[in-house]
Amino acid sequence: MLTVDKLNQYYGESHTLWDLDLDVPTGRCTCVMGRNGVGKTTLLKAVMGEVAVASGSIRFAEEAELTKRRVEDRARMGIGYVPQGRQIFPLMTVEENLRTGLAARRDGKRNIPERVFELFPVLAEMKHRRGGDLSGGQQQQLAIGRALVIEPRLLILDEPGEGIQPNIVTQIGGVIRKLIDEDGLTVLLVEQKLPFARKYADGFVIMNRGRRLAKGDIGELSNALIKEHLTV
Ligand SMILES: Nc1ncnc2c1ncn2[C@@H]1O[C@H](COP(=O)(O)OP(=O)(O)O)[C@@H](O)[C@H]1O
Ligand SMILES: [Mg+2]
Repeated sequence: MLTVDKLNQYYGESHTLWDLDLDVPTGRCTCVMGRNGVGKTTLLKAVMGEVAVASGSIRFAEEAELTKRRVEDRARMGIGYVPQGRQIFPLMTVEENLRTGLAARRDGKRNIPERVFELFPVLAEMKHRRGGDLSGGQQQQLAIGRALVIEPRLLILDEPGEGIQPNIVTQIGGVIRKLIDEDGLTVLLVEQKLPFARKYADGFVIMNRGRRLAKGDIGELSNALIKEHLTV
């Protein structure tokens, strides 16, 4: 579904991604792991076009090279993105927040798919509340809902469990599996929480200093790898 080849990215003089490869197979949840500052968010931003890349390629489904496409086009091709820290609009209502996602629908439909409320009933209950009045967990659900209004083929989530109460983290994990198993989505997840990755992901990638150091099926994620690259 998504293939990244030899990607190099710089912030000014600082070389952040080094010949980075990544495969995200269709119909699976691939989890990118690694300590703070290794370049996980930068990788996702490169896929979405929010940071420029120096070299390498990013291919999505049957579409042409993504690095040559405009930022606005990427969501329109069917990529839903939930950024780290959620970035919802605090002064807009839940419904208005969800509607902001609709602009990227390729078919021009302007109604929020009922499936979003089925997956996150709390968003229906709180439709008219302001985003800023929701709890952190509810805001994360809203951010995921907003990414889902385009009915994407690929959903990208950057640390959805960060700073969120455990019961909502579990709900979000359940929604990820439903999206894959029932709706046929492909998921690219960045998550540092090991139990979450083990429970909900199918494959893992470990990054360190902008490079991919290991990958495999989630069952192959060994304690040695965890000790070396994940624990602080
Ligand atoms: N906008 C930026 N300008 C300069 N350096 C940045 C910027 N964003 C991130 N970095 C640096 O790039 C590196 C990778 O950051 P990031 O991709 O956010 O890592 P992660 O998501 O794995 O924690 C870090 O050293 C970080 O300080
Ligand atoms: Mg990050």
